[in-house]
Amino acid sequence: MASIEISKLNITEIYRLMISAIVPRPIAWVSTIDGTGQTNLAPFSYFNAVSSTPPSLLFCVTRKPDGSKKDTELNILETREFVVNSSNEWNLEMVNESSAPYPHGVSEFAKVGATPAASSLVKPPRVLQAGVSMECKLLDTLQVGQGNLGSSLIIVGQIVAMHVRDDLLINGEIDFEKYKPLSRLGGQLYGMNTASIEKPRGVVK
Ligand SMILES: Cc1cc2nc3c(=O)[nH]c(=O)nc-3n(C[C@H](O)[C@H](O)[C@H](O)COP(=O)(O)O)c2cc1C
Repeated sequence: MASIEISKLNITEIYRLMISAIVPRPIAWVSTIDGTGQTNLAPFSYFNAVSSTPPSLLFCVTRKPDGSKKDTELNILETREFVVNSSNEWNLEMVNESSAPYPHGVSEFAKVGATPAASSLVKPPRVLQAGVSMECKLLDTLQVGQGNLGSSLIIVGQIVAMHVRDDLLINGEIDFEKYKPLSRLGGQLYGMNTASIEKPRGVVK
């Protein structure tokens, strides 16, 4: 077994090792607007659920290679609202294309062909093609690291409304087979065609 002392690795080596070890990661496809109403859309795989009381989720925005903040972070800090849209297999091209570093003021919605649909309780639009969209209000942030390359802002959002495509909602749950969630793996790999198995929870013996 290889035992790796992390302090001996450089930033790129750490990143490559971590993102190939912590898999599969779900992908939040986050839509935001700035103070002028300009929309923005980008994928984030440092993403997960936090609590159901309050209903909340988190995702993490790292710095750009030049150390500056990404549009998603700037917009959320300015407007305190965002929408997490699901990344489904049928949206793979759009999700991937929306990660391109378009300058502030250029909307990825138009560039990748995502259709904006009105949200009900927040200003940023949701993506019509997403199977699920979760409207969020900013609950909290936590800066991890010094704001340099590789450091991250954890963004915690309270889910205030959800939109689910009719055929995906079965008895109050999202149907996994139809949902076809994309995940992020190491390198430039996406995970898809996920197999599943049903097992009751472990019991104390
Ligand atoms: C599948 C995928 C997952 C990504 N996950 C993250 C992430 O968790 N955090 C992050 O800061 N950037 C992540 N990125 C890169 C951002 O999407 C990219 O930097 C994007 O340009 C940010 O857009 P913005 O400046 O409009 O906010 C990911 C890219 C891809 C393709």
